[in-house]
Amino acid sequence: MNFLDKLIIPLSPKHIMLLHYLLMLTFSLFILYISILLSGTFFSLYFKNKGVKENNLNKIRFSKDIMEVVTINKSMGIILGVLTLLTSILIFVQLLSLGQASAISYLFTSLLLLIIGLVLVYTYLYSLKFTEVFDAIKGFRSEDKSIEDEISELHSGSRHLSSSSGKFGFIFLFISVWFFIAGSTLPVYPDTFSAGNILSVLLSWLVISRFIQIIFISGAFTGATLLFAFFYWNGGRKFITEEYKSLVRSFSIRLTFTSIIILPVFLLINLVTLPNNSLSGAVFFYSSAALVLIFLAYHYLYVMIRNQEIKYALHVFITVIIVIITLVIKDQLALINANEIQTVEMGAKYTKLMQQLTGESNAPKISGEDIYKNICSSCHSFDHKVVGPPYKQTLPKYKGNVDKLVAFILHPTQNNPGYPPMPNPGLKPDEARAVATYILSEVKKYE
Ligand code: HEC
Repeated sequence: MNFLDKLIIPLSPKHIMLLHYLLMLTFSLFILYISILLSGTFFSLYFKNKGVKENNLNKIRFSKDIMEVVTINKSMGIILGVLTLLTSILIFVQLLSLGQASAISYLFTSLLLLIIGLVLVYTYLYSLKFTEVFDAIKGFRSEDKSIEDEISELHSGSRHLSSSSGKFGFIFLFISVWFFIAGSTLPVYPDTFSAGNILSVLLSWLVISRFIQIIFISGAFTGATLLFAFFYWNGGRKFITEEYKSLVRSFSIRLTFTSIIILPVFLLINLVTLPNNSLSGAVFFYSSAALVLIFLAYHYLYVMIRNQEIKYALHVFITVIIVIITLVIKDQLALINANEIQTVEMGAKYTKLMQQLTGESNAPKISGEDIYKNICSSCHSFDHKVVGPPYKQTLPKYKGNVDKLVAFILHPTQNNPGYPPMPNPGLKPDEARAVATYILSEVKKYE
């Protein structure tokens, strides 16, 4: 994907963080939207089949109502689905270095499949509406026999169209989400997937376990959205019969409940499989926050089931949304950690570019020596052990690889047995680069 190179402009670390925040936003919106659409379509098809088989009008009606709730309206499909994914891809192109260009191709594939899926799903929605109209005029008699025939032909045609467009729409969305998960998983594990063909990526345990997680998220959010739309929005739907109401209520609560109860398992699997350099306090914090919120939602649902009431519909809806956003933030933080080196490299390019543009000398010079003397020297010396190991002993492995040293200084990991872990000195990326360059050149005197 060499043409993508041209799109990449060097960015300052601040801009990079801003893009990560933007990505949190577009990812959250996309995942929220695609989750309800995916399971919504699935369960709509399920109720349609059952309704037709059992000749149960409530189920057929629920099938159409589900689609109306989850598709919101036509422009939402474009704004929430296509635009958020497209924006995310453009941000990804900017953030990821070429090593992970394959991640971008997965996301592009996902976008194409999504567009096809959306067209089919909207076709499904409209044909459901037509079928309903035809159902209503079923007994229509006309003087002209040919009109009756034509109506009955259109009727079965719209039934057929709705079945096939719904099924294929679901399949396209399903595969689109799969590719999306693959594309957003790859950059978090830059070492694991360095060389692999599409199938080995799609079928890898890391991708599959995240995909299953999304499926459960999708179930939970769809259930919560149905509860919200039927029982809270605009004061709840008034026109529904008791029988229909209890069908919607018990299905939505059960769906949310079963999906959400399994979610923590996949959250833990996900956390355990994250590579070390992706982990940080913040990643743990957001994971725990998500867990607490999941239990809160679980509690509301339990009260609703026990008391046979629906008064917590709004609480569940909002809690599940926050759970999803929390999980997206957690994933993005892991991504930021995993791509520390790229961020540092790009920051360095940016500084160079700015220096060229502004004429070198204007920028205040950061002195690596000062930073070493003020901060590092309290724990380090070049030739003997202080609190940390002597540089003479630890720096040779960073020779010719400043970026790796910068990444270590920004996010120290435990590398030397027998020493306590190094606390994070809290430097900015360009300060870390200055001190790294300084100690690497200084250590030569001790060789
Ligand atoms: C509060 C004490 C402390 C301060 C301040 C400190 N370090 Fe460390 N540093 C340590 C300890 C302890 C270790 C050993 C940790 C380990 O690798 O397990 C260490 C390890 C290192 C290593 C070896 C890494 C490796 O991969 O083996 C380098 C390089 C390093 N520090 C550089 C720095 C720089 C540069 C600074 C100043 C910006 C700094 N340290 C500030 C305590 C400190």
